Amino acid sequence: MNTMNLLFEKFYHSLNSDELRFRLKSLEDFMLQNKMHGNWEKWVEQISSLPQIKPSSIHLNQNIISVGNNDDLSPSQQKHLKQTLELFLPWRKGPYQLFDIHIDAEWRSDKKWDRISQHLPSLKDKAILDIGCGNGYHCWRVQEHKPLFTLGLDLTIIYFFQFLIFQNYIQQDNFALFPFPLEEIINLKPWCDFAFSMGVLYHRKNPLEHLKQIHDLLNKEGYLLLETLYIEESSGTILQPKPRYARMRNVHHIPSCTTLEAWLKECQYRNIQQIHTCETTTKEQRSTPWMPGSSLKSFLDPHNPKLTIEGYPAPRRVVYLAQK
Ligand SMILES: C[S@@+](CC[C@H](N)C(=O)[O-])C[C@H]1O[C@@H](n2cnc3c(N)ncnc32)[C@H](O)[C@@H]1O
Repeated sequence: MNTMNLLFEKFYHSLNSDELRFRLKSLEDFMLQNKMHGNWEKWVEQISSLPQIKPSSIHLNQNIISVGNNDDLSPSQQKHLKQTLELFLPWRKGPYQLFDIHIDAEWRSDKKWDRISQHLPSLKDKAILDIGCGNGYHCWRVQEHKPLFTLGLDLTIIYFFQFLIFQNYIQQDNFALFPFPLEEIINLKPWCDFAFSMGVLYHRKNPLEHLKQIHDLLNKEGYLLLETLYIEESSGTILQPKPRYARMRNVHHIPSCTTLEAWLKECQYRNIQQIHTCETTTKEQRSTPWMPGSSLKSFLDPHNPKLTIEGYPAPRRVVYLAQK
């Protein structure tokens, strides 16, 4: 697939570490040989058949990531594009607009960006890693800071294809998303100036290991921006929900802020600053035509929205910035 090869080739030139380049090239080989999903070939075909158009505009620095407009496409191209976008449902992270097709994703990811962006140090010429980046919404938003390069990792294959649709038009050579977990790039010498881990820690069976793995990849004085679920101190030190939390089977630990700060200290982070806390609302996470399945509203107790349907404290999120 030309689009994919070209995309990675240019990206490799922007990297600051030969070891990372070598590792990513071997992951790319693995991906192309193993196809990694039953629909892989069908999806590659869909991406290859996207209208090859240079969009008249690209806006990455506004809440709706917006590429091109209606006039750039013929009516039949517009129809084909919409059908292709619908094949890649569910769109969980957004919002996006592609040639005036508005992708109203389940999550208003711009709200999270607004909460964190004012606290970011300069990312200019920095090497950025976004672990569990979904389809790359926040990686696109990072681009206005002119980083050296941005590597997004997410193990959910469909998000990789959602990224490819936008990369096909935006052609941001110093950003690539790889459909692999963080664990595939550990044991490298430090190369990363700024790591985002947002919405991932509670999915890890061993959260301390996740924090240590990031610490090992960070350059001296490199930053971690950690965003995760937490419980209030009055609810205890750590919640280990079983068998589900807000219908999710893979939520293993939800710490209090005191516990989280102790974990960060144990993993040798310093300058630990809490920058935001909030409850997750149904304005930020909700069903839409682009994610027609159940969403937060159905995961909360209908008689008491302060609790999940299982009777645990409803989701609250905290953001920390910390340094190596
Ligand atoms: C709740 S979503 C968060 C997405 C995005 N970071 C955000 O904050 O909106 C968590 C994502 O992490 C991914 N994920 C979980 N464990 C991961 C790992 N070890 N490495 C890479 N991605 C991971 C999942 O596939 C999922 O897309």
